[in-house]
Amino acid sequence: MDAVPDHDFTRRLGAVATETETLLEHVLGSGALPGELARPPRLLEAMRYGALGGGKRLRPFLLVEAAALFGAARDGALLAGCALECVHCYSLVHDDLPAMDDDDLRRGRPTVHKAFDQATAILAGDALLTLAFDLMARDAVHADPAVRIALVLELARAAGIGGMAGGQMLDLAAEGRFEAKRARGQSEIATLQAMKTGALIRFACRAGAILGQADAAALAGLDAYGAAIGQAFQIADDLLDLEGDAATLGKAAGKDAAAGKATLVASLGAAGARARLDTLIKEADAALAPFGAKADTLRATARFIAERRA
Ligand code: IPE
Ligand code: IPE
Ligand code: MG
Ligand code: MG
Ligand code: MG
Repeated sequence: MDAVPDHDFTRRLGAVATETETLLEHVLGSGALPGELARPPRLLEAMRYGALGGGKRLRPFLLVEAAALFGAARDGALLAGCALECVHCYSLVHDDLPAMDDDDLRRGRPTVHKAFDQATAILAGDALLTLAFDLMARDAVHADPAVRIALVLELARAAGIGGMAGGQMLDLAAEGRFEAKRARGQSEIATLQAMKTGALIRFACRAGAILGQADAAALAGLDAYGAAIGQAFQIADDLLDLEGDAATLGKAAGKDAAAGKATLVASLGAAGARARLDTLIKEADAALAPFGAKADTLRATARFIAERRA
């Protein structure tokens, strides 16, 4: 039986989604900023298409809720969350390209390369990625430049070769694209997923603690929570690929098995993957123990990640 929806959680997630949309709408306006020569309309339109009007906005939500745990200002956390969402949206635009997962549907609409063309989609992804660092460096994120530098550095690491982009490479390699296909063990799959999906989610949680200038023990707690829910998030995504449908998901289903993706669902079976998901949610809860009731929204977020239907 599905869990009873937690109305406070749903309201809070909805509020961050709305505020993130408003901010993205603002930063993806047509006026050139100092240092910019012009904003080519087709590229801007593709960036807006890839970033606006869809998505759960889970990563900004995690960042804002983690920041709230430490009393950090909400406006700065929202802008940092908006930066992170730009990296996430770029990763989706590129993930869907014909050379990668070759998908036609995303967030219930044609993918960016379908609505525009491949070259425009590549450039829209590039420009969303660089916009993320533009936003994260802005004064409005935090008054202390050392905090902003820490965020920029950690976001770069989470997005790059040792994080999301590196994980995407390992994901494609596991399909047997570049070398003879060989079975991946569970720890290899876990590493691949911790990179391709976990790194940005973990960053969201760490970023909240960094913005709140949390002490080392608290940062470690948020880091452990983020690592657990990051793994859980991709297992849930892989279960939905197996068991969901495109109308509910807003993206194609049943593609991972067809592509021979290395997933824990393929390796453990659906029941085994679900058991792993339960363990990870318990791990996430355990990491939040020192924060008491203040962390209830983050606890609800872990359950949402495991139980979501889209
Ligand atoms: C999908 O992420 C891509 C993965 C990392 C598995 P989300 O499920 O968060 O996608 P949106 O942003 O809600 O569309
Ligand atoms: C994508 O994983 C992870 C990213 C870094 C975008 P998937 O390829 O499984 O994501 P979906 O299912 O297309 O959203
Ligand atoms: Mg992919
Ligand atoms: Mg994909
Ligand atoms: Mg998937």
